[in-house]
Order: sequence, then structure tokens, then C-alpha cells
Amino acid sequence: MMTNRREFLRAGAAGLACATALHSSESDSLIEVLIDEPIAPIAPEIYGHFVENLGGVVYDGIWVGEDSRIPNIGGLRRALVEALRRINPPVIRWPGGCFADSYDWRDGIGPRNKRPKRTNFWADASEWPKNASRTGPQHFDPNQFGTIEFTRFSKAAGAQPYFAANMRGLTAEDFDRWVEYCNSPAGTTTLADQRAADGEREPLNVRCWGVGNEAWGCGGSFTPEDYATEFLRFTSWVPGYNVPLAFVGSGPNGNDLDWTRRFFAKLAQKGEVGRMWGWSMHHYAWNASGGRTTDWNAGKGDALKYDAQQYYEILREANQMDSFITSQWGVMGEQDRRHHVKLVVDEWGAWYAPGTEPFAEALLGQQSTMRDAVLAGMTLDTFNRHADKVGMAAVAQLVNNLQCLFFAHEDRFCVTPTYHVFAMYRGHQGGQSVRTLVSAPTISYARAQGTGTLPGLSCSASLRGKVLTITVTNPTLDRAREADIELRGAASTGALKSVTLAAADVHAHNSFENPRVVEPHEEQAPAGGTRFTRHLPPASVTKLEVLLS
Ligand code: AHR
Repeated sequence: MMTNRREFLRAGAAGLACATALHSSESDSLIEVLIDEPIAPIAPEIYGHFVENLGGVVYDGIWVGEDSRIPNIGGLRRALVEALRRINPPVIRWPGGCFADSYDWRDGIGPRNKRPKRTNFWADASEWPKNASRTGPQHFDPNQFGTIEFTRFSKAAGAQPYFAANMRGLTAEDFDRWVEYCNSPAGTTTLADQRAADGEREPLNVRCWGVGNEAWGCGGSFTPEDYATEFLRFTSWVPGYNVPLAFVGSGPNGNDLDWTRRFFAKLAQKGEVGRMWGWSMHHYAWNASGGRTTDWNAGKGDALKYDAQQYYEILREANQMDSFITSQWGVMGEQDRRHHVKLVVDEWGAWYAPGTEPFAEALLGQQSTMRDAVLAGMTLDTFNRHADKVGMAAVAQLVNNLQCLFFAHEDRFCVTPTYHVFAMYRGHQGGQSVRTLVSAPTISYARAQGTGTLPGLSCSASLRGKVLTITVTNPTLDRAREADIELRGAASTGALKSVTLAAADVHAHNSFENPRVVEPHEEQAPAGGTRFTRHLPPASVTKLEVLLS
């Protein structure tokens, strides 16, 4: 019976017309939430963030300094910390990114006025706006924001820190010592005493450690086999100081299955796959060219000015996350049959061409429109649906950079549409992901050659106690959807809360001058029963919260 129903739903729009006609003459889509078909608990860490010492992320973005006239908490921008707290950030990754493999953690400890100044990894990037200052902290790192400042930031936001260790430039011993500085009890080692002198007597208890970053590229251009050897060297016998260390291996670029297969095979040869807790994966949606080019620079589009094809191309690239997760997971399972190792998507988001930076020093800063909100909703739905596979993730990056949640410069601050999506999805954290079946007309659009397609709706659902959270994105640019929503396995429901993020123009965005152009709208509805219809505006993200009785 179930199989037949699924087959029927998969039959697409023709079948859909019959299915919905039974219930509502207006609906054009159907979402079934199968409450009795749990997938796995959603790791809160899927809702993580990424802070790299890059452009305006750290200096100006987060760190303003204790003596600043900008309201701050021990040098950390107060407005940002407070806004971040409101979305329950579970984990924050730092210090990179490519920057991590050029960073000596020792530069960022001790009295701030004695710390060395170093050339930032990104100083020579070709993307710097022409009018950017070439002498500021974004080029020459004053190391004011080091281990203590970052862990204080994480704590103030309510998140756990996730460190990325330098494998390209430092040694396995340096890595051990960083762990010792962070986690050994005061009074036991010189580095623990140094930490206490730096203001943190209690161990920082850092659990998550990335071992290098993009080891296939800026992290050292390793082969998977050479990287596996280094990974084992770095992670052998690292003292834990009673903290169960979680090592994250530097995984593929996008969906490079060869990298994953060869790395896992090498670890398996040594019987050491279990050494790893997580396998990282980076996936950016960047090519808006519609198939005209695969060139990294030429393929990028503008963050603000885009047509329908460019809009859909970015979403189509982002939506590849779903199949990438499944295929990486399959290859990981060749050596890790019980799937002890989880996927860690620790960089994801949209990456556009330079030109919309919120200020000149914000290298890789870009504006963020409703397209990015839809991208965020689709991606978070994908992670929720793969809650059995994805153990942690981090959107790139937190502030003034790529798919950011905030813009912050001097005394100006605002949140982006992506921030609102994280706020809307926060109820999924720790919930039990349950299966959803979606049937909606597939989106088709013209590419340079041929036709591109995208699922008509994307959705996920989770249960926490009696609260069912359903999130749906409608990527269709020019059409609202009327979706029938059926809660299978629920006896009856109480109140329904619905929050929608949408705008009359998909290019709508927030800025320092107009910070509230894109904002969510909330509606309460009386008890909805186990079946109801929702209006999903074009290019929108919707959250429904249902109290099950
Ligand atoms: O997020 C920007 C950069 O993208 C990171 O430093 C690197 O890991 C990735 O290539």
C-alpha cells in the first residue's frame, strides 16, 4: 500500500492533479509528513557557523577591541554576539579555511600588546576591492583575536568551539601543544599556566579539531594517501585531558569521490578509520553561467543583479548537496560499514563575483538577497533529511563574507535574510527528523544549452516532544504554491504557528541603510487538524510549527 502511494506520488504533476483534487481544488502540491517514520535525531551542530580570519570577518566584524566606542563585550561586538545568541549557534569553526594552514596559534596567546603582527594568508588575493586599505588588520594580522578571544566569543554566543589546526605549516607536536594549551588543567603544565595567565584558569575543553583544511588545495596540495599519512601522524596519541577529542579529516572538494575513497582506503589499511570522528566536505554554489563555462572566476555571477537563469543555476548547484551527501556516504561506507564517521559540511553557501562588498576591506564580502535565503532553507532541509549522515556543518561565513548572517562595519550592523532562515529553523535542532514526501511540479528553466530542473518544493520535518516543525522552501520565481500538508500518524493537532520569509522582489536585501527590508512574518492559526493547505509565496521560506495533541 505504502509503495503504491509513493509510486503514485513520484509519478509527478499528472498524478498530483488527481491526488489533490480529492482534497482541495486549489492546491497544486502535496507534502506528507510521516511522523511514524523517524530518520535520526538532528545534531544541533548541523546549524554551525564559520569564522575565518579573512577580510572583515574577524577585525571589524567580530573584534572591535575593548577600548572601542562600539558597544562590546570584552572587545567582541555586542550587537553581533546578542543576535547570534538568539539563533542558538551550536558550534563555531575557526580560524579558517585556508587561513588555518598559515596560522601559528602561539602568535595569538599572551598579553595582547606583545603579540606579533603577521601577513594574513589572504593579503595578496586577487579579489580585493581597489579602494581597500592595504595596511589594516585585514592585511597585517595584529593577532588580537587569538585562542582565548575566540573561545570567549563562542562561549558568549552559547556555542562550542571547533578549531582547524595548521597541518601545512606546523608539526604534529605543535598540534599537541595547542591541545595542551586549551585543555590541560591549570597548575599541571607550563602551557596550562600560560592559559591561566591569559585569563582562563579553567580548561577550555575544546573537543572538535579539524586536522588541516582543504588538504587537496590550499592546505598543502596533498594526495589522499599522503594526507592520510599526515592525518595519522597528527592524531596519534594526542593527550585528551579527559576531553573525548573529535578529529575531523579534510574531505573532498565538492563531490570528489576519488579523494574520499583513496583516503579511507589508506586509513583502513592501517585499521585506523575509527581514529576519525568526522569527514569534512565543502560545497559552494558559484557557477551562474548556465553551462557556458566552468572557469572559477568567469562562471561567477553578481550577488544582486541576476536573471531567472542565474537565480536557478545557483539554487541548482546548491541542491547538489543532497546527492553529494548520499554519494560521499556510500563511498565512506565501503571502509566504514557501520558509519562511525559522520559527514561534516564545514563550508557551504553561495559565492558570487566581487563587487557588492559592504565595505572595501570586506574581502569576499557579498550582498545577500532572498535567493540566498532560499538557498539556506534548501540546504538546511537537506541536512535535516540526512540527519543520519551529517554530524556537523558550518555556513560560510558568519559576517561580512560570502553567505553571511551579518554585516558589521564600524558602528553599523544589520542581519541578512540568511540570518532569518537560521532563526526560523532553530526549532529543528535536536529534534527527531521524520520522513517527508513531497510532490510538486518540477521547475524547468533554460540553460545555455538545454534545460535545467529543480524540485518544485524542498522540505524537512522534525519532532521535539509534541512540537512538529515543518520547513518548506518554494524556489519557484514566478509562482506561489498552494500546498496540501498531511500529517500522517498524528491523531489531532493544536495551534499552528506559521512564519514566512518572502519579498515582492527576489532581489530584496538588507543593508546598513535599510536593515529591515527582508523580515519574517508570523501568523497564528487555530487548530488546523491533520490536514491543511498553506500558501507558499514565490521564492520563499516557510516554517510551520504544529502542536500535536
Ligand atoms: O571560505 C573561503 C575559503 O573557501 C576558505 O578559506 C577555504 O577553505 C575555501 O576554499
